[in-house]
Amino acid sequence: MKIFIDSGSVKDIEGLVPLGIIDGVTTNPSLLAKESGDSRAIIKQICRLVQGPVSAEVVATDAPGMIREGRELAAIDEHVVVKVPFTREGVKACRTLSSEGLRVNVTLIFSPTQALMAAKVGAAYVSPFVGRLDDIATDGMEMVRHLVEIFGRYKFGTEILVASVRHPMHIVEAARMGADVCTCPAAVIEQSFKHPLTDIGLEKFLKDWEKAHAAKA
Ligand code: E4P
Repeated sequence: MKIFIDSGSVKDIEGLVPLGIIDGVTTNPSLLAKESGDSRAIIKQICRLVQGPVSAEVVATDAPGMIREGRELAAIDEHVVVKVPFTREGVKACRTLSSEGLRVNVTLIFSPTQALMAAKVGAAYVSPFVGRLDDIATDGMEMVRHLVEIFGRYKFGTEILVASVRHPMHIVEAARMGADVCTCPAAVIEQSFKHPLTDIGLEKFLKDWEKAHAAKA
């Protein structure tokens, strides 16, 4: 399973890319609004850093506007994936942009039928938002399970990109289900590095080593 960083922060991305575990990045208007500076320049910088798919979202709400913006975003860098929301207009825009050879990530997916329709119009990725479903007492990962099952029966070429991830168990469940990608906030990736037994174990290894060498000296 590929791991993307869900962030518009160059600092977050610079910190994690050198680890070699990051395959791409997703941004959205809310994430980029937190950053200072020109968002197109930020997207370009993120593309240079990650050298993999970077989703950048349109803010137009009509299909012609989304298509225009999508083409402009795609012109920023070859790694840009155009993100459009799942609306009637978004579906139309996805169909056009995909037919032009641009990769489209259809976002704000909250049901398998939405994902199925996005796949039918050539989406490269669908982004089911698991955390936001959990927030309203609906099992977000259950939707992913259905998507994996449905997509497994057909040959869409659309990847399931698990989004709105809140904690490391979402990553574990996404991987167990066979999702293609899990996009995670930097903090959730950091959390995955923490395990008390790893810390305790390493401390003991180093202490034992030091003790043995001090005794020999
Ligand atoms: C996905 O691409 C979105 O940027 C993101 O995962 C939304 O997550 P949130 O529900 O934490 O805002």
